[in-house]
Amino acid sequence: MADGEEKQRQFPEKKQIRQQTAQPKRRSKSWGDMKRYESLARNISDSILSGVLKFGDQLPSVRQASSSRGVSASTVFKAYYLLEAQGLIAARERQGYFVIASPRGMPPQPEAASQPAAESTTVDVSELVFKILESAGTREVVPFGSAFPSPLLFPTAALTRSMSAALPKQDPWSTVDYLTQGLPALRREIALRYLIDGQQVSPAEIVITNGALEALHLCLIAVTKPGDAVVIESPCFYGVLQTLERLCLKAISVTTHPSEGIDLAALEAALLLHRPTACWLMTNFQNPLGSSMPAEKKQALVELLAEHEVPLIEDDVYGELYYGQRRPLPAKAYDRRGLVMHCGSFSKCLAPGYRIGWALPGRQLQQVARLQLTSTLSASAPAQEALANYLARGRYDHHLRALRYKLASNQHLMTHAISRYFPAGTAATRPTGGYFMWLQLPSSVDALEIHRLALAQGISVAPGPIFSPQHGYGNCLRLNYGHLWDERTEAAAALLGRLIATQV
Ligand SMILES: Cc1ncc(COP(=O)(O)O)c(C=O)c1O
Repeated sequence: MADGEEKQRQFPEKKQIRQQTAQPKRRSKSWGDMKRYESLARNISDSILSGVLKFGDQLPSVRQASSSRGVSASTVFKAYYLLEAQGLIAARERQGYFVIASPRGMPPQPEAASQPAAESTTVDVSELVFKILESAGTREVVPFGSAFPSPLLFPTAALTRSMSAALPKQDPWSTVDYLTQGLPALRREIALRYLIDGQQVSPAEIVITNGALEALHLCLIAVTKPGDAVVIESPCFYGVLQTLERLCLKAISVTTHPSEGIDLAALEAALLLHRPTACWLMTNFQNPLGSSMPAEKKQALVELLAEHEVPLIEDDVYGELYYGQRRPLPAKAYDRRGLVMHCGSFSKCLAPGYRIGWALPGRQLQQVARLQLTSTLSASAPAQEALANYLARGRYDHHLRALRYKLASNQHLMTHAISRYFPAGTAATRPTGGYFMWLQLPSSVDALEIHRLALAQGISVAPGPIFSPQHGYGNCLRLNYGHLWDERTEAAAALLGRLIATQV
C-alpha cells in the first residue's frame, strides 16, 4: 500500500482509535450502533477469526478497499488502524497490511495486577539468577528464556561497513576530547531520535554509556545511598534486583498491572509509607510483563513523583520496538522539573555487541557524567563512531520497521503455539512491542521445576521467581519470541506445553 504510507503516519484519529481499544467496551456494539470503519473492521476481523483470511495474507490496499467497499479512504485507514491496535494485522514497509492472527482461540490475557508484599525488603536474588542464566547460555538451547533477541536480526554487515568508513576519518584527539559524555556526532543522532517524537533534547544533556545497564546504574548511584529504599515494579527485570542488591538498596515492590504497568494508587501509598529515594520503572514494554503505561498514566506518574520530589529512573530499552505506527512517548516527555532520568540503548534494537547506551539524567547530568569518570571513564570510541556513521546514513528506520514486523509476527506464532500446546488455565500477555510475553500457568505448576525439566530437553525458559525479590511468581514464566521461528522452535513449544501439562 505504497500510496497510503505517508497518510498512515499523519492520520489524526489514530490516537483516538488506540485509546478506544485500550479500554474495552463493557458490551459489544450492535451493528446499528457501529460507525462505518468499525463495521468494516468487524467484517475483516470476522474473516480472520473464521479462517477465510489466513496468517500472512495481504489485505487490499486502501485504494482498492475503498473502491470495492464503497467507503472513503479515511474509513479504510481507520478500520486498518483499529485492526492493527487489536493485534490482528500489521503493516510491512512499502507493502501494505498483512494478517498476523489466526482463527484458533487465543489464550486469555492475565487480568489481575500483582499483589507484592507491602514491606521494603533487602534483595538476594543473584545466586538464583546467575544459576539460571548460566545454564541457558548456549546456542544449542532453544532460547525461550533468553534476555536477548536473535543476533541474526541485526544489520551486522551494514554496521561493519559503517565502522570501516568511520574509523579512518577518526580524529585521534576525539578519544580524549569527548571523554565521559561521548562523541558529539552520536549524541546529536540520539537527540534527533527524540526530536522525531516531538521531544526537545540537546546533545549536551546526553551521557553515552556502556549499554543501558551502566546508564541505569549510574543514575541510581547519583540519587541514592546504601540503605535507601527504591520503588520497583512487581514483577521486574532481574537486572534491577541485582543492581539493588549490589548497591545495598532496599526494594519496595509495587503492584503492577500486566498490560498497563504500575498501579498509581499503590505507588502513592508506597511513597507516603516508605519515603523512597528513587523509583525505577519501565513505562514501555516492561520486562518481563510486556506492559505499557498509557500516555495519561505516564503523565500522572511524573506529576505524582514530582509532588513527592522522587526521581524516576526510566528504563526505555525496548521503546523502539513498538508494533504500531508510533513510538510510545516515555515518561520523560512529561518531565518539566528534570526529575526523570531516561535511559536508552542500541543493544536491543540495532547493535547488541557494541555496548552503547545513554542516559538523559535531567538535573543529575553533571553528577552522572562525573560518576562515569570513576566507573568506566567512557564508552568505546570506535563503537560510537560506527553507530554515529550508521545513523547518519538514514537506514535505521528501515531496519527497525523490518525488525518490528518480525517481532509482531513471532508474537502471533508464540501465542498460537501456547493456545495449541499449553494446558487450559494458561494466560499470556500480548504486549504491543518488545519480544517478551509473561505466562501465568495453573497454580499447581512449579516454574523452577519446569525450568529444570525443559533445560534437560534443550529448552530454556525464564521462571517467575527471578523477577521478584521475594522469589514470587512460582507459577509464571517469561518467554522470549525474538528469535527465528522454525520447526525446532515449534517442536520446543509443543514439548514445553507437554511438560507443563504433567504438573496440572
Ligand atoms: C529491561 C532491561 N533493561 C536494561 C538492559 C540492559 O541493556 P544494555 O544491554 O543496553 O546494557 C536489559 C538487558 O537485558 C534489559 O532487559
